[in-house]
Amino acid sequence: MEILQVKEADKVYGQKETAVHALKKVSFSVSQGEFAAIVGSSGSGKSTLLNLIGGLDVPTGGEVVIRGRNIAALTRKELTIFRRRNIGFVFQNYSLMPVLNVYDNVALPVTFDRGKHVDHAYIQELLAELGLWEKRDRYPNELSGGQQQRAALARALANKPALILADEPTGNLDSRTAIEVVGLLKNSCQRYNQTILMVTHNEALAQTCDRILHIEDGVLLPKRVQRTYVEDSELFSGRVRQTRTEADKLQMENGSRDCRGKGRRQCG
Ligand SMILES: Nc1ncnc2c1ncn2[C@@H]1O[C@H](COP(=O)(O)OP(=O)(O)OP(=O)(O)O)[C@@H](O)[C@H]1O
Ligand SMILES: [Mg+2]
Repeated sequence: MEILQVKEADKVYGQKETAVHALKKVSFSVSQGEFAAIVGSSGSGKSTLLNLIGGLDVPTGGEVVIRGRNIAALTRKELTIFRRRNIGFVFQNYSLMPVLNVYDNVALPVTFDRGKHVDHAYIQELLAELGLWEKRDRYPNELSGGQQQRAALARALANKPALILADEPTGNLDSRTAIEVVGLLKNSCQRYNQTILMVTHNEALAQTCDRILHIEDGVLLPKRVQRTYVEDSELFSGRVRQTRTEADKLQMENGSRDCRGKGRRQCG
């Protein structure tokens, strides 16, 4: 089942001489349970695309359809509720609430949703897995960049949303922690049949995803070119193979042993 369809999405910032054509007729769809990486150089339009999908900005042309609904057709109030129920965001700048401690920041999207039961056991589990349990009573300004990034990730997962949009969720992490965080995302994706779109500059991590969407200069490269790009780059160098082996090892250690012998699609 397709959870997301992006149809000829266009985005132009500004007007006339100052206009920037950030996305040019981008079209693709993503199935439920898929873990897709979005790659591309700085300024190529990755964050713009995530913002349009998350309904944080509107396209100048085309449509974003999530679970069969064109999100541009929703009223402001409907969009707020739709986002809260269906989408988890991890932003480039974390956007944690400075007046709330780690635990309350993570529980925030659930507590906002009136009537929804707060799954404290799950929040505890997330904080423990992300190495933040000891920091649960701390405030964002008392955390390192990487800890803030992990707290933002825990917050995005707390609601068990159908669609997770993550803008460089590992940008501030060392390579081992980055691998662990992506492993956690994969486990979550399998456990709750979630769909994840993750912007990353880390090609080795992108390679471990089900699929890579490559954007350059606002254009989504056709699949054939994406594959060439992947093969042409240093992805199969020893360094990357080693990172992947480490990723697999860590995932095994993290309890995904039952993945052995299954295909990549089932196993993430
Ligand atoms: N609010 C804005 N107003 C005007 N131009 C913008 C705005 N936001 C982004 N842009 C421009 O749109 C283009 C795409 O920006 P975007 O932030 O999507 O890039 P990106 O791929 O996420 O880059 P990075 O990897 O550096 O985060 C860039 O040329 C950027 O300068
Ligand atoms: Mg960006």
